[in-house]
Amino acid sequence: MQTWIPLWLPGETAHAGAVDLLFIGLLVSSVLVLLLLFALLLRFAIHYRAGNADADRNHQIKKSWTWEVSWTTATLVAFLGLFVWSAQLFVNLQAAPNDALPVYVVGKQWMWKVQHLGGQREINELHIPLGPAVRLIMASEDVIHSFFIPAFRIKHDVVPGTTQTLWFRPRRAGVFHLFCAEYCGTDHSRMTGRIVVMEQPAFEQWLARQDVNGTLASGGERLFRQLGCGGCHGAGAAVRAPVLQGLYGKPVPLSDGTIEIADERYLRDAILKPRAKIVAGYQALMPSYEGKISEDELVQVTAYLKSLAEPGPSK
Ligand code: CUA
Repeated sequence: MQTWIPLWLPGETAHAGAVDLLFIGLLVSSVLVLLLLFALLLRFAIHYRAGNADADRNHQIKKSWTWEVSWTTATLVAFLGLFVWSAQLFVNLQAAPNDALPVYVVGKQWMWKVQHLGGQREINELHIPLGPAVRLIMASEDVIHSFFIPAFRIKHDVVPGTTQTLWFRPRRAGVFHLFCAEYCGTDHSRMTGRIVVMEQPAFEQWLARQDVNGTLASGGERLFRQLGCGGCHGAGAAVRAPVLQGLYGKPVPLSDGTIEIADERYLRDAILKPRAKIVAGYQALMPSYEGKISEDELVQVTAYLKSLAEPGPSK
C-alpha cells in the first residue's frame, strides 16, 4: 500500500488491502467520534465558564428522548456496521480454498517448528511457493504463542490443546518478518523468524535440497505402527474400531447425534480425547494418547490419516 507513510509497509498478500481498508475505516470512525466529543466538550467548557456574562443560563434544557435515542441508534448502527465488516473478513480468513498447500507449524518455547508434507523440516523459517494459497495448521507444545506476519496482515494465537488454521496467498517473492506476538516467557522477544516466498521452480529445488527422512505421512505411518493403532483400526483387528481409510474430510456421525467433519482438529481430538466424541455405533474403548505423543508426531499421524483418504495406491 502507501509506502510514503513511515511504519506502514505494503501488504503482501491477496487479502492485505481488505485488512488495511478495515483498519482505516476503524481509525476514521473513531477519530470522527473523538473529534465530535472533544469539540462539544471544549465549546461548552469555554462558553459556560464561570463568570461569562454572555452565557444564557436561564433556559436549562430538559432530557430529550429524541436526542438520546437517535444518538444511541446512530452509534449502534455505525459500530455494528464495523462489526459485520470485520466479521466477514475474519470468516473469509478462516475458510481456506480447497487446493491450499498445507504446512504444519508447532510453536514452543522459544521457536517455531515447521513441517512440510514431503517431510522437510525447518526451524524459525518458513519457505513457501509463490502462487498457491498456503494453509497453516498450527499447534503449541507449551504455552500460548501468536504467529504474526505483519507484511501478510495475519496474526493468530496458537493455543495449547487445540489446532488453529490460517491461510494466505502471498503476492510476491521475498523475505518477510515472522514474530511471536504473545508474551510467552524469557525469550519471547527472540521467537522471531523469516518467511521466504520463492518462485515455484526455486521452491521445488529448495524442497529437493532438504534432508528428508521419509514424507510426513510415512513418518506418521511408522508412528501408527509403533503406537499399536493398527491393533484396533487395522484390517482384521479383534476390536471393532472405526475404519480410517477414506475418513479425512468426511462427515462423522457421533453417538450424541451431532455430526463432525473429520478435519485436522477432529482427528487431533479423537487421538488425545477419544472419549469426548464417540463415533455413533462404537463403544468408548480407545485410550487417550495425551502425553504419549508430541505435537510433531501428532502432525505426522494426522498427515498419514489424511493420506489414507487420498485417491491413489491403497495401503
Ligand atoms: Cu512465543 Cu511469544
